Amino acid sequence: MSAKRLGLLYAISLVAAVAAGCGGEQSTLDPRSEPARHIATLWWWMLAAAGVVFAGAVGLLALSWVLRRREGVPVVGEREGFNLGMVVLFGMGIPGAVLVALFVIANFVVMPDTEAPAASRTPMTVEVTGAQWFWEVRYPDGGAVTANEIHIPVGTRVNVVATTADVIHSFWIPQLNRKIDMVPGRRNRVLLYAEKPGRYRGQCAEFCGLQHSHMAMYVFADPPERFRAWLAQQARPRSSPASALARRGEQVFMDHQCASCHTIRGTPAAGEVGPDLTHVGRRTTIAALTLPNTRSELAAWIRDPQYFKPGNRMPALGLDRSELDAVAAYLEGLE
Ligand code: CUA
Repeated sequence: MSAKRLGLLYAISLVAAVAAGCGGEQSTLDPRSEPARHIATLWWWMLAAAGVVFAGAVGLLALSWVLRRREGVPVVGEREGFNLGMVVLFGMGIPGAVLVALFVIANFVVMPDTEAPAASRTPMTVEVTGAQWFWEVRYPDGGAVTANEIHIPVGTRVNVVATTADVIHSFWIPQLNRKIDMVPGRRNRVLLYAEKPGRYRGQCAEFCGLQHSHMAMYVFADPPERFRAWLAQQARPRSSPASALARRGEQVFMDHQCASCHTIRGTPAAGEVGPDLTHVGRRTTIAALTLPNTRSELAAWIRDPQYFKPGNRMPALGLDRSELDAVAAYLEGLE
């Protein structure tokens, strides 16, 4: 393949990679915090360095090809000193220098900047636990528990303590900071900081089983006052069902297996297998962002959870149509 065609191929694959993997509200290349910006800058530098090295290698390949075709020019093996020099410079010298520079920048500039604040200087801690396949979110200071949708105050350095209930997961909000692995028996920490109010999508970044790709989350960065109101509201027990249908739904929920797997504070339901549903009606999505949180989607999910997320731990309970409607109305009303 000619150098020109190689170059073209390189350009096409580069554009494809950027277009496919780095767009939308989950983009490392659209940073919304200082640490994420440092990571994005490092990425661009790495891309540039890799581009220069690659172009150099392709250029030398092309040069050797051209020289090889000219008669009278010595080929490999006939100018040993020159050849050795080329290998040492381009095979060891330049790659070595690039790797050392990247190591120094990554370890001494980017890493310290992305670390969680020291415990003594932490204005706020959120405990996030990965589970197959959702995120449990606890606010030790406020007593609130939720799932899959994390709220934080904007402009506040939040200390995320990351743990797991089963296998290794990885907590990652690309626009806000680097990944942090959730390893059994460990309490890893990472800084979560958003400069501007908004919604930031995250994704489990460690293969954790069949539904790994359906293990996403949102971080909502709220103005401090709205955040405080949200936290106080989330800490309360559930609000009583407001309609006859919702009251029936609560009864169905308590009479079936739902209550042994989920917690709804203020009711006898205290299961710890699935997400806390005390205020599930306030979330925008269910099943770790798999479905929008509407009454019809709730009913569809409860009717056959295995259809949407095969392998997840929630079974179909065989509820009839009216029971499904009632439970969905009840959960929708848990705001
Ligand atoms: Cu959890 Cu991948």
